[in-house]
Amino acid sequence: MNLIEELYALQEKHGWLREEDLRALSDRINVPLYEIEGVSSFYPHFRKTPPGKLHVAACRDLSCHLAGGAAAIARLKGYCAGKKGVEFHETSCLGRCDSAPACAVNDEPMSLAQAEQCVKSMKPLPPAPSPSPRRWRCDDGEPYGVLRDVRKSGDVDSMIERIRKSGLRGMGGAGFPTGVKWDLVRKEKATPKYVVCNADESEPGTFKDRVILEELPHLVIEGIALGALAVGAKEAWIYIRHEYVRERKAIERALKTAPLDGLDLRVFVSPGGYILGEETALLEALEGKRGEPRNKPPYPGTHGLHGKPTLMNNVETFALVPRIARTGEHRYKFFSVSGDVAKPGVHEVEVGTTLRQLLDLCGGVKGHLKAFLPGGASTGFLPADKIDVVMDWKPLQEAGSALGSGAVVVVNDTRDMLDLARNLTAFFRNESCGKCVPCRVGTEKAVIMIDGRKPEDLALLPELNETLLQTSICGLGQAALTPVLSVLQRFKK
Ligand SMILES: Cc1cc2nc3c(=O)[nH]c(=O)nc-3n(C[C@H](O)[C@H](O)[C@H](O)COP(=O)(O)O)c2cc1C
Ligand code: SF4
Ligand code: FES
Repeated sequence: MNLIEELYALQEKHGWLREEDLRALSDRINVPLYEIEGVSSFYPHFRKTPPGKLHVAACRDLSCHLAGGAAAIARLKGYCAGKKGVEFHETSCLGRCDSAPACAVNDEPMSLAQAEQCVKSMKPLPPAPSPSPRRWRCDDGEPYGVLRDVRKSGDVDSMIERIRKSGLRGMGGAGFPTGVKWDLVRKEKATPKYVVCNADESEPGTFKDRVILEELPHLVIEGIALGALAVGAKEAWIYIRHEYVRERKAIERALKTAPLDGLDLRVFVSPGGYILGEETALLEALEGKRGEPRNKPPYPGTHGLHGKPTLMNNVETFALVPRIARTGEHRYKFFSVSGDVAKPGVHEVEVGTTLRQLLDLCGGVKGHLKAFLPGGASTGFLPADKIDVVMDWKPLQEAGSALGSGAVVVVNDTRDMLDLARNLTAFFRNESCGKCVPCRVGTEKAVIMIDGRKPEDLALLPELNETLLQTSICGLGQAALTPVLSVLQRFKK
């Protein structure tokens, strides 16, 4: 067990990390107490005080904000105030943007009304049953059929070539070509090698991985096993956010019957927030350390987990691989759609779909379309006249934004764009790990400047953005001002 797993075990036993237990742990594993403190204090999930009976959390981020989140937070906070044994806190995106405004009690997601009911009765709700499985078009082959075929033929190079030619790019946000990444790690000489599936999904508006993990766990596992075969790894990890309890259970159930053929594939539950999704921060956490991003290069493909070549992909990327490895064709992709639409949800569409078509699948816009965020909090808002843009890397880049994580947030014409940009900037401020001063201080400064709404201050934001771009270690600081700049550039109000 690494240090984080040890801390989990202690917290599970007593509900919090007691001083005497930490001292005993320090003696047992021979790690100084200050080092244990350094790790445990980094992660908000680890507690230093006994927990209340009910732990109520309400999301403050964009999709929930659009669904009246501020009023929901105020109401729930008021409801919890003064109630013995009840703790309330605002939280960042819970990955439930399709049920905005989202709340959770003791990590169980629920509606505002249900949360109030829990507080009234002082009883948590039992876990909600899983939804009935739907048919997804990317799941049209025999389960683990591709894995068996590639194992039998041993022709890994042809498989990687098919993935490369299909044009598949990473679905975690950065869009790195998947076949190129697989080939790169395959060619590395150092051993052992590792595979990591990034299931940390925490960016406002993004919840497709949650649905894929729960409804298509076998495709994720098959993709990971194909990745391990491709690069020659014997150990693989699924790194999942701790709020995804039902999704973790679905993966664990599927693992019981998966033909892993000696691959040691395990689940690691993240104790942290959004920054842990950044690939090198994630690796630090997997190694039992504080989850701060590393300086890059080197990249995980050459120096990843324990300094060894590591293939890391997003949940959706892995889930799409089996069909692509079989057919050579990257035909389908997933979008999370939330905000001002009639039916928010996850949609699997053909590559080449436009925003207009996607909106039709969601029952249309509530009101009149003013703007949309095509790829999550790290991408720029686009105006309504881009409704016919194809939702793919190149067309969105040409339109002035990005596909990102495929998280579409729809905005109608009653909204104040600067207020939405403020909400996103505050998200980055709240989630900055603080390692780089410009990111830690700059995101706070940007929120203050947006709040002030003085034209002369807003005019300085491009310069602040330039500083963040040049001096931030990771993508959080580099993208933090992208939404607000898009608003200042493209929208009058
Ligand atoms: C602040 C930050 C948070 C991120 N969060 C996630 C995440 O939750 N899930 C994810 O797959 N990628 C996330 N990424 C991107 C990863 O660093 C990495 O690019 C990705 O896991 C690679 O997989 P892919 O090539 O399949 O997209 C994040 C990046 C940054 C900068
Ligand atoms: S850019 Fe921000 S989030 Fe990323 S490492 Fe630096 S301080 Fe942390
Ligand atoms: S759950 Fe609130 S923005 Fe995602």
